Amino acid sequence: MPGEYAATMDAWRQDPYAFWLDASRAIDWIEPPKAVFDATTGAYGRWFPDAVCNTCWNAVDRHVPTRGHQLAVIHDSPLTGTITRWTYADLAVRVGAMAAVLTDFGIKKGDRVIVYMPMIPETLVAMLACARVGAIHSVVFGGFAARELAARLDDSEPSLILAASCGIEPGRLVPYEDLVNEAREIATCKPPVLMFQRPHHPARLDGPDTHDLGSLYEAALAAGRTVPCEPLMGTDPLYILYTSGTTGHPKGVVRDNAGHMVALAWSMTNVYGIKPGEVFWAASDVGWVVGHSYIVYAPLLIGATTVLYEGKPVGTPDAGAFWRVIAEHDVKALFTAPTAIRAVKKEDPDGKLPAEYDLSGFRALFLAGERADPASIAWAEQALNVPVLDHWWQTETGWAIVGNPFGLEPLPVKPGSPTKPMPGYDVVILSDAGEELSQGRLGNVVIRLPLPPSCLPTLWGDDERFRSAYLTRFEGFYNTSDAGLIDEDGYVFIMARTDDVINVAGHRLSTGVMEDVLTSHPAVVECAVVGADDPIKGQVPVGFVVVKPGTSVDGLEAELVAKVRHEVGPVAAFKHVIAVPRLPKTRSGKTLRATMKKIADGEAYTMPATIDDPGALADIENAMTQRSESA
Ligand code: COA
Ligand code: AMP
Repeated sequence: MPGEYAATMDAWRQDPYAFWLDASRAIDWIEPPKAVFDATTGAYGRWFPDAVCNTCWNAVDRHVPTRGHQLAVIHDSPLTGTITRWTYADLAVRVGAMAAVLTDFGIKKGDRVIVYMPMIPETLVAMLACARVGAIHSVVFGGFAARELAARLDDSEPSLILAASCGIEPGRLVPYEDLVNEAREIATCKPPVLMFQRPHHPARLDGPDTHDLGSLYEAALAAGRTVPCEPLMGTDPLYILYTSGTTGHPKGVVRDNAGHMVALAWSMTNVYGIKPGEVFWAASDVGWVVGHSYIVYAPLLIGATTVLYEGKPVGTPDAGAFWRVIAEHDVKALFTAPTAIRAVKKEDPDGKLPAEYDLSGFRALFLAGERADPASIAWAEQALNVPVLDHWWQTETGWAIVGNPFGLEPLPVKPGSPTKPMPGYDVVILSDAGEELSQGRLGNVVIRLPLPPSCLPTLWGDDERFRSAYLTRFEGFYNTSDAGLIDEDGYVFIMARTDDVINVAGHRLSTGVMEDVLTSHPAVVECAVVGADDPIKGQVPVGFVVVKPGTSVDGLEAELVAKVRHEVGPVAAFKHVIAVPRLPKTRSGKTLRATMKKIADGEAYTMPATIDDPGALADIENAMTQRSESA
């Protein structure tokens, strides 16, 4: 309805607590919140501090009496050629049985459980079972290698690992068992493993304290076992999700139960325009925040049906895969990353494939994860004939900071902008000196505290790092580490990261992690990794290395590429290494990464005034020229 967005923002600004208390009525509480926000606890306050609740109850159990026969989960897997459909009644039985298995292993409220599982419905069951017993799950994306898994083991100190025997990527199997065993060798924390067997590559189950999850789960199902939902404080953690920061050590983003449910339920209706009983599809991975929020929790919280897609936008089998899934399951809205649209557009430049499917029920395409380039938006609008809506958020927030409130009131699209702030987010642009910038001026995008419900209250076990990473740079604000501007109509534009995080195919990666791996090679003296522009993936990492005098660079690129793939994972898409005699630095010793990126992108650059040795930039240019000549 026209004016609905402005009215909603006014209501929130006038009385934020009344706004969120009203939104909280979408949730079933064991003890309803009396206090909405406690400004005296936590780093910036805590939402719903006295509420008692259970997320699994709200996502599963409460729907069984009213919509037990309705589909809750559709697993569509072109990689295995299967489609599985579970009703809410099926899901409740399965989650209950999995929760019973967890309790057999002594898992209880507050214990951490690592979930290292691919895009199969049992992964949802595992996450919801943790939520049911009050355990804190930490899902690790399958494209990460053993070393990354080990870092997460030692930081979260889980009591159990739930894994599957393999993931399936086009043309290859990912043997999770080997990765889990290797991670347990590296890590100090070595919890027992429950391994879910997939027939495509069954596990040997020969690691220490490794058990067959499938048979335990099947036995619990056959016996009709379940356990009750554990009453939890609203502020108790639901999950930890590790994300890349500036340093090599990942940040454990903590999500609580109450605020997460309230914000997600609000967003499902008001941002995505989805009603109970409708089908929503987030084509992401459960290992990322998009998967947590919009494959698993949000659709189920409101009684919608979620699609879990084990496939790719292209090649499984073709660039019509997304449109086939939408038509086959009557998907009302799809959420994906711009990189996926670019991959589809490359194969189907004229946008002919959508016309081969019945997309009459499809209402909107949502994009996030990286900047949505106007060309991809235009292609998708033309090919699909529905609104294409960019929105901007982060692992830290769990839902859109800035978006187009399609369910509330679709706002006119300005390509290049994710549109306007959602309620709860007072988005401000600050200069490096902390002064508020006027309309149209580029600066640091920050959010005035407090952050709204669902946003991280802290980093796992590290309040100090939470404060220093997000709250100290600009007092009274959360620093998003994105740069951008707000135009004269209040539209926000997000332009780039202000830290060393890069975005590869919608995946957030730390250049610091890759640099650590490169410098641990005996031939490498120092290095810098920058994100070079890529037409499909947005960015790809390029490593510039300085090698020890007298060392041969023959074969070094292949060795370093293999090393990053082995230690960080294939998802880093690290394929390019360029040897240079020295790195360009400022006089204070800071590597000039932004200038190096410009050279890698073939863009003009101005010589930084603070450069120590201008010849170092010429060396980079020469190395790039030699490389493109030999390519
Ligand atoms: N487990 C194991 N390996 C994985 C993996 C997983 N879950 N996901 C990706 N990988 C591997 C890929 O197989 C690939 O390996 P390769 O080097 O052997 O080919 C590598 O990691 C890089 O993967 P990706 O960046 O996904 O590139 P791709 O070429 O396989 O596919 C796209 C390109 C654009 C189709 C794909 O990146 C895509 O669909 N992206 C959408 C991203 C997304 O949903 N982001 C979430 C935010 S909304
Ligand atoms: P992640 O935590 O993996 O979701 O990554 C968050 C980061 O991705 C943000 O801080 C941005 O840098 C980038 N990002 C996500 N969505 C968008 C968007 N719609 N437009 C521009 N950048 C985005």
